[in-house]
Amino acid sequence: MNRRLIFIFFLVLLALSLLYSWRSFSNHTTGTRWANDPENDLGKAAETCATAVVTVTQTAEKALTTYTRVTPSSEFSKFAGKDEPFPRELLSQAELDLVNSALKVADETPREKRLKRFYNLNGAKDWLDYINSLDDDTIPPLTKFTQDYIYKHQFPDSCKDKQFVVMNHFRDKNGMGTVFHGAGHILGLALRNNRILLWNHAGDNAPGRNFIEPGCGGSPGYEHERSLDCIFEKISSCTLQDVTPENSVKVEQYWGPPNSLTGVAGSVPPVLGYAMKQLYPDIAPDGLKYWWRTQSVGFLMRLNGEGMRRVKELRTAKMHHAVMTHGKTKSVEEITVPFPLPAGTFSMHVRHGDKAVEMNLVPMSKYIEVAHEYIAQNPLTSLKSAFISTEDNAIFEEAKTTFAEPGESTTSMKDWVFYYSDIPRLNGGPEEQLNAFGNRTEMTCKWLQQLIMALECDLVIGTRGSGWNRMIDELRCVWGTGAGGCKAPFMEVGPFEDWGSGT
Ligand SMILES: *[C@@H]1O[C@H](CO)[C@@H](O)[C@H](O)[C@H]1NC(C)=O
Ligand SMILES: *[C@@H]1O[C@H](CO)[C@@H](O)[C@H](O)[C@H]1NC(C)=O
Repeated sequence: MNRRLIFIFFLVLLALSLLYSWRSFSNHTTGTRWANDPENDLGKAAETCATAVVTVTQTAEKALTTYTRVTPSSEFSKFAGKDEPFPRELLSQAELDLVNSALKVADETPREKRLKRFYNLNGAKDWLDYINSLDDDTIPPLTKFTQDYIYKHQFPDSCKDKQFVVMNHFRDKNGMGTVFHGAGHILGLALRNNRILLWNHAGDNAPGRNFIEPGCGGSPGYEHERSLDCIFEKISSCTLQDVTPENSVKVEQYWGPPNSLTGVAGSVPPVLGYAMKQLYPDIAPDGLKYWWRTQSVGFLMRLNGEGMRRVKELRTAKMHHAVMTHGKTKSVEEITVPFPLPAGTFSMHVRHGDKAVEMNLVPMSKYIEVAHEYIAQNPLTSLKSAFISTEDNAIFEEAKTTFAEPGESTTSMKDWVFYYSDIPRLNGGPEEQLNAFGNRTEMTCKWLQQLIMALECDLVIGTRGSGWNRMIDELRCVWGTGAGGCKAPFMEVGPFEDWGSGT
């Protein structure tokens, strides 16, 4: 923005000096005393110039933010791309073999291999190996170091003589984003104070218990309790059996830890803060906070073998997914949902439901507008292909009827293909949905399947005002799932804030 303005400013300066030299040139040739002419004085010129700056800036803004599509003029229509069928009969057998081997190579892209491996992850060791296999250029700085550091801290060789933070459930109405972001905050404080974070399994009081059916995810001595351990990796090798009143502090609510746990919101463990400052001496506190959120959520949300197995089962069940397209030639039935989703697919998480109390809800049309702009600018690496997740069934009706493409004069696809999953939806909050749909563990697995399917996408459109959208951004980064991992853009459709409320 600033660079653009400076550029425009120089253009105008150049125009002014050209005008001036033309005037002095014509002064010499015609002998008119233009400088003394009140109509032509420099003050007037400066005023004209100022008006010009404003007009040029406005025009530039408009040109850059308005997506328009043109149909080629008839004069040039003979140069337009032709729609050819390319029938197989045109190719010799040797050419067909050549093509088939090329397609086979394309089928084994690093992205596809990575995603297939991801869906088979089983156990903490496997997760660490997976993270260590990622390309450092596509994940946030110090990810491998940090994930290993957290793991070693939480899984000591011996739990004897250790200190602990024991964390309780907070509120049933909190969404998964709030639970894990809150827990990530406490994990930061625990590491900072050289304590190991544990869930409080006693008395059905573990964080996020409402996401799990009773009797799944207990720990020694508390086998009948439930916790996130049911479908997520355990966060520590220590258990409540290692805890005494002397060696532990309790955290009753995510955002109000006891004062004995020193550190403020967004506190980063000193080893990690120091390391990050070596790399980015000028990093802002909230920059560091977002980085830590990404790391902590990436650790806490690793699914365990059983959870991942169920998510993969849901992901690959053909009956469970649906596709729609406005195609003139393709019908809905002809397309199945590929696994993984095609490279260049957008994730669009449209957060409606109860979120209206916290933020203005963004209409689906805004997502499409942003996608159209991106695709028009990057036609070689994007598709008119999107995975939609939402709690609002009306979105699919809207997508079906509203976003048909006008025709062939585009450098990308002729039409949109929208993928979505056939899961129970209720346009409300997480608590209402968990109460309405029976088996909580199963519902949670379906949500996680939605979350992870969003991570298959290379391009993300969403609004960071919603915790779920932030989780998509954080996890695609730290787990490096899509092509380009964290290097692929996140496109904001909500009110644009650079951190803003800081939640
Ligand atoms: C134009 O010419 C007049 C006299 O011939 C001179 O006084 C004036 O400075 C000139 N103006 C410019 C802009 O060169
Ligand atoms: C709930 O769903 C989970 C995950 O699919 C399954 O393992 C469990 O048996 C179900 N529980 C009940 C009570 O149906």
